[in-house]
Amino acid sequence: MTGTSSPALNSPAGSPEFEPVASVTDLSEGTIVQRVRPSGDAVCLVRYKGEISALSDICTHQHFSMSVGDLLEDGTLQCAWHGAQYDCRTGEVKQVPATAPLPVFQVRLDGDTILVGPRSERIGGKYEASTVRVP
Ligand code: FES
Repeated sequence: MTGTSSPALNSPAGSPEFEPVASVTDLSEGTIVQRVRPSGDAVCLVRYKGEISALSDICTHQHFSMSVGDLLEDGTLQCAWHGAQYDCRTGEVKQVPATAPLPVFQVRLDGDTILVGPRSERIGGKYEASTVRVP
């Protein structure tokens, strides 16, 4: 899903584009996977308890790839390098050494296609959650 002719979709409100990044079948329950948006951001897709969320794939501590980390049983996303932990829906820091939350992107489904949109609003030490339930 790369190239200049990607089928990016405009949101009804005219806000920044939502872009297809993966199929629901690419992401089984309890797993995480990296995808790179056509516009360039690396995202970490998470499927936890039947809901999909999309966060920045770049740890806010020292920029390691979050998608090679672990998704713990309680929905905590753990970085593989120094063990920073984040909430998989809000990006809130749950364990240092990270001190800044992990950015969250808005997410939608179009059939089986996962679409990732603009960054959610940061509210204090976390981001507004954005998830879609797997049908
Ligand atoms: S780079 Fe993620 S905890 Fe250090």
